[in-house]
Amino acid sequence: MIFLYNHLNRQHLNSALNIYNHYISNSFSNFEEKRLTSQAFNNLYKNIKKNKLPFIIGIKNKDILGLAYVNKFREKSGYRYTYEHSIYVNPEFVKQKYGTRLLKELINQCKKNKKIKNLIAVIGGSDNIGSIKIHEKNGFKHIGTLRKVGFKKNKWIDSVYMQKIL
Ligand SMILES: CC(C)(COP(=O)(O)OP(=O)(O)OC[C@H]1O[C@@H](n2cnc3c(N)ncnc32)[C@H](O)[C@@H]1OP(=O)(O)O)[C@@H](O)C(=O)NCCC(=O)NCCS
Repeated sequence: MIFLYNHLNRQHLNSALNIYNHYISNSFSNFEEKRLTSQAFNNLYKNIKKNKLPFIIGIKNKDILGLAYVNKFREKSGYRYTYEHSIYVNPEFVKQKYGTRLLKELINQCKKNKKIKNLIAVIGGSDNIGSIKIHEKNGFKHIGTLRKVGFKKNKWIDSVYMQKIL
């Protein structure tokens, strides 16, 4: 049984941050190069909640399976109906459909929010097959790829844009 939480306590936030930082350190899916501090991650969470946007985690038997959240796509006011989402599954639990559960729940919550008309996935790396596949399977269309816009660990990385109009 998986439980999905919308309101995170300190312990949830610490576990979610561990997953987030794992992907900063060990992948090109996140273009940050330095691990986030607890304070920076708490601020991210608080800001998303202040804007009444979804931030969810999945839990099974005390293990945090992953996190998914929605944030502004860009700051300029004309973008106000467009949001970017992020999803990170605990590396110990990948390829067990937990990412799909989280993404489907996130999309459902977004559909209930009248402000959210567009969801954009900004995917780190053309070779991020897992992320491209999970988005395709959930109705996202490949819009384009920005070539070599990221630079991390001495490597140029593409950014793949996928969109779902809600
Ligand atoms: C991308 C990610 C969220 C997928 O989560 P997951 O729980 O492993 O995905 P699921 O088990 O729900 O799989 C969904 C589909 O993608 C496929 N898939 C997942 N990872 C894959 C991989 N590494 N290679 C190939 N296919 C993969 C699954 O087989 C499944 O397809 P199927 O229905 O045909 O079997 C997870 O790998 C992750 O957190 N990656 C790092 C962060 C990231 O890239 N996030 C996206 C940025 S927005």
